[in-house]
Amino acid sequence: MYKIVKRQQLNDTVVRLDVEAPFIAKKAKAGQFIIFRIDEQGERVPLTIADTDSEKGTVTIIFQIVGQSTMLLSQMKEGDYILDFVGPLGAATEFGDAKNVCVIGGGVGNAIAYPSAKALFQAGVHVDVIAGFRDKSIVILEEEYKSICDRLFITTDDGSYGDKGLVTEKLQQLIDEGNNYDLVIAIGPIPMMKFVSKVTEPYNIKTLVSLNPIMIDGTGMCGGCRVTVGGETKFACVDGPDFDGHKVDYDELMKRNSTYKNLEEHDRENCRMFQAAHMGGVK
Ligand code: NAD
Ligand code: FES
Repeated sequence: MYKIVKRQQLNDTVVRLDVEAPFIAKKAKAGQFIIFRIDEQGERVPLTIADTDSEKGTVTIIFQIVGQSTMLLSQMKEGDYILDFVGPLGAATEFGDAKNVCVIGGGVGNAIAYPSAKALFQAGVHVDVIAGFRDKSIVILEEEYKSICDRLFITTDDGSYGDKGLVTEKLQQLIDEGNNYDLVIAIGPIPMMKFVSKVTEPYNIKTLVSLNPIMIDGTGMCGGCRVTVGGETKFACVDGPDFDGHKVDYDELMKRNSTYKNLEEHDRENCRMFQAAHMGGVK
């Protein structure tokens, strides 16, 4: 059993939990994930680790309420216990010997981009962060980012905060201004990772993306997380979740992720009703 020691509502649909899991806190590296199960009836849900504190023995997860499990998790309070919290799973992000890196997060994907930016910055690498959101009301992690990067650029689709536009526009601008990045890390919605990779490809900038296919066991056994990278079949849970952004078959990933679209929409409708009743509506 794993105790929730801190709970924070980051915006209407995004929640941060610090969970007591000393073994994971000690071992986990940027890019790795956990799988949680709330109780005996619960489904197994993968979540990338947003942060760790090895002294306190805690692991931070930041998640969007998108279905029944994340809705139930969001209702848990400090002092409550999660039945299973397994990890660290997956391969850690391999940064190579990059010296000038641009880390890009899209929406809640920023929770996963954050540990990479932090690990690189603490290793003495120059780190620019582009954090993109639809609008000002859902901006998360601004203060946290400020202390672990050289420059932070926030973008909003509607221009209500930071620079108006998509993260890809800001990246193109920074490249045009002469920033010679040797690594770009992009984590967020699949179309965002696809189009970031399209921006960097002509400049031959190494680009890492973190894939979020459907996962079941998280150990390479079930095949649920199958993705195609450079024409080869890979399992995101053991070969990834990070892959070369220029080689990923994004269209196949989007198609496979929409397999349970109808069931997920039904789940989302339940969430919307819950949020409208308990959290003052949904964005
Ligand atoms: P969102 O749809 O609001 O997008 C966030 C930002 O990404 C936008 O503000 C924009 O700057 C950029 N973006 C989106 N589409 C783009 C495009 N076509 N071209 C260029 N830039 C684009 O994000 P959200 O609502 O917070 O949704 C989060 C998404 O991230 C979900 O789809 C979720 O499944 C996914 N996600 C992915 C991971 C991962 O590991 N890759 C982790 C968590 C969440
Ligand atoms: Fe089963 Fe990856 S989740 S093989």
